[in-house]
Amino acid sequence: MASTLVRAALSQPVDHTPVWFMRQAGRSLPEYRELRKGNAMLEACRTPDLVTEITLQPVRRHGVDAAIFFSDIVVPLQAAGVDVVIEPGVGPVISTPVRTRADLDRLPELDAEALSDIAESVTRIVAELGDTPLIGFAGAPFTVASYLIEGGPSRNHEKTKAMMLGDPELFSAILAKLGRMSATFIDVQLSAGARAFQLFDSWAGYLGPQDYRAAVLPHSQEVFAALSRHDVPSFHFGVQTGELLAPMSEAGSTVMGVDFRVDLAAASARVQPGQALQGNLDPAMLFAPWEVLRPRVEQIVRAGLDHPGGHVFNLGHGVLPATDPAVPGLVVEEVHRVSREVLAE
Ligand code: CP3
Repeated sequence: MASTLVRAALSQPVDHTPVWFMRQAGRSLPEYRELRKGNAMLEACRTPDLVTEITLQPVRRHGVDAAIFFSDIVVPLQAAGVDVVIEPGVGPVISTPVRTRADLDRLPELDAEALSDIAESVTRIVAELGDTPLIGFAGAPFTVASYLIEGGPSRNHEKTKAMMLGDPELFSAILAKLGRMSATFIDVQLSAGARAFQLFDSWAGYLGPQDYRAAVLPHSQEVFAALSRHDVPSFHFGVQTGELLAPMSEAGSTVMGVDFRVDLAAASARVQPGQALQGNLDPAMLFAPWEVLRPRVEQIVRAGLDHPGGHVFNLGHGVLPATDPAVPGLVVEEVHRVSREVLAE
C-alpha cells in the first residue's frame, strides 16, 4: 500500500495525518551545521554523500512522514551552465542576469545528463529510506525567473515586473525555458525514485491575481502537465499567497500548500473540489512555550480533517534556522496523536 503521505496527498483515507516540514534539512540541525563546515552550499548540493546524509538527518531526528530532497531551486540553472553562487545570509546571486533576448538566447537548455549526480543522490536516499517517501522539488518558473532577471534576491522584484509588463513576450519566453528546466530537474528525481514533488513558487505572492493569471499560471501549468505521466502526488506552494490560492490551485497539483497567514478553513473554500491541503503552522510559533504551541497544532490537525480533501501537516513556510531542534519532533508526535484520536472516533 502507498505511504500515508502519498495517500493523504491523493485525498485517500489515512489512519493519521502525515507531516513533514519545509526546510526540515538545514541550519536548525547541529548535525547539518557540522557536516556543512568547509563546503559551499551548491558544492554540497552536487555531492551525493552529503546530499544523502543531509536529507536523512531530519527523518531520523524528527520522525517525519517524508524526506525532502536536499538541494536548491538554483541547482538546475547551475547545471545548465549559469554562474550562480548561494551567498550565506543573502541567497542566490547570479553574475550575468538575463534581461534581453540575446541574454536569453545564451541561456542553454538543461540536459538531464548534466544531472547524473542528482539521480545518484536520489537513488541512494530512496534505498536508505525504506518505506518513507522522498519528496522531490524544483522552483516554479516565476520564482527562478526573479533571481535570474534581478541577479539576486530582491525586495520588490521591480526589474522582473517591469519586464513582465513591458516585454511580455520576452518574459514569457524566459518562464517557458525555466519551466522546462524545472520539469527536467523534477523528472530526474522522480525517475530515480522520488514519490512526490513540490513546486516552490516562493515569490508568487508579490503578484496580484490578474498578473499571476496572465503571466505566470500558464507556465506553472506547463510544469505540472509535463510531469503528469509519473502519476505521483504534487504540491504547489508560495509565500503570502492567500489571495492567489484560487488561481494557483488551477495549476494542476494534487495538493495546495497554504501559507501561515490564512485560516485553513478559508483556504479549504478557495481550492479545487477534492484537492488536498498542506500546512500551515506559523514557523515562528515553534519558539512559543509548548502549552500554547500544542493547542495550535491540534487546531490545524482538526481543521485539516474537516477539509473534504486530504491534509498534509506542514509549516506555513520553512523551519527557521534558530528553531530548537527538539521542537519539530514534538510537533510530529502531537500531529500523529491527535489525528489518530480524531480518526478513531
Ligand atoms: O529541507 C528542505 O526544505 C530541503 C532543501 C531546500 C533548500 N532550499 C536548502 C537550502 C529547499 C526545498 C530549498 C528551496 C529554495 N531555495 C527556495 C524555495 C523555498 C522557500 O524557502 O521559499 C528558495 C527561495 C531558495 C533560494 C535560497 N537558497 C535562499 C533564499 C537561501 C537562503 C540564503 C541564506 O543564507 O539565508 C538558500 C540557501 C539554502 N537552501 C540553505 C539551505 C539549507 C541555507 C544554506 C546554508 O546552510 O548555508
